[in-house]
Amino acid sequence: MSATPQTPAPYGARRLTPSDIRARKGGTPVVCLTAYTTPMARLVDREADLILVGDSVGMVLHGMPSTLGVTMEMMILHGQAVARGVERAALVVDMPFGSYEETPAQAFRNAARLMAETGAQAVKLEGGLHMAETVAFLTARGIPVMGHVGLTPQSVNALGGYRVQGRGGDAARVRADAAALAEAGAFAVVLEKVPGTLADAITAEIAVPTIGIGASAGCDGQVLVIDDMLGLFGDFRPKFVRRYAELGESAAEAIAQYAADVQSRRFPAPEHVFASEAPGTGGLTGRSTAPGKAGS
Ligand code: KIV
Repeated sequence: MSATPQTPAPYGARRLTPSDIRARKGGTPVVCLTAYTTPMARLVDREADLILVGDSVGMVLHGMPSTLGVTMEMMILHGQAVARGVERAALVVDMPFGSYEETPAQAFRNAARLMAETGAQAVKLEGGLHMAETVAFLTARGIPVMGHVGLTPQSVNALGGYRVQGRGGDAARVRADAAALAEAGAFAVVLEKVPGTLADAITAEIAVPTIGIGASAGCDGQVLVIDDMLGLFGDFRPKFVRRYAELGESAAEAIAQYAADVQSRRFPAPEHVFASEAPGTGGLTGRSTAPGKAGS
């Protein structure tokens, strides 16, 4: 039976936890991917240690120009969908822009709601030194937090674009950000779009796993946006993404083939058409056309 949002794994079932991820520091790299839907979560759960319902959902699935318009309601809806598909991996949900920056109390209220309504075991929030007090506040109150430093897409306007962070003299700032989050109690820290040498230095310096995206193979784990690595997000080909499949191209070919088949009446073929008498019953039956129901 699939899990409900509030009880993502049967009581006592072995499910990876934020503490398990924390304990992977310096060990076998943590496999992390995003997911936003139940079917994709089921596929990712077979291989990943940690599944992130990223606020990238706004851009990837909803066509938004940035993550700034993502709401709590969107994160809850996608968090619930993903929770239904996850049995083994640790599940983390992103806190959307504007839901945690004001005060630690605001962050607690929204993080608690995200966890209660989705069944996620932790939240992720963006920002370094200035978010350390909030991370300490949340972790002291039972909310595991994954940090996110370097390129923090929710600050795209302040950062002046999606560029590499921590080059040259700016490296000290990113180092201090990662160290502050680790000391505040984050169980892992995402390093996004920072130089490889800086990611390696931070990985050596902080006591919790670093999860790289556009960082270094030396990080304690890696994360990618699932639609990027499967070739589902258009022609977006940033340097840090390896495309493991071209599902967008396959889908486009399949849709073109379908259109040609419909126009030439090659679809439906005889095997897709129902007989007037159901086999063996001698009469009509009302069969479902729902997915997975073959009918006869
Ligand atoms: O929103 C997201 O998907 C993320 C990952 C890229 C780390 O924050």
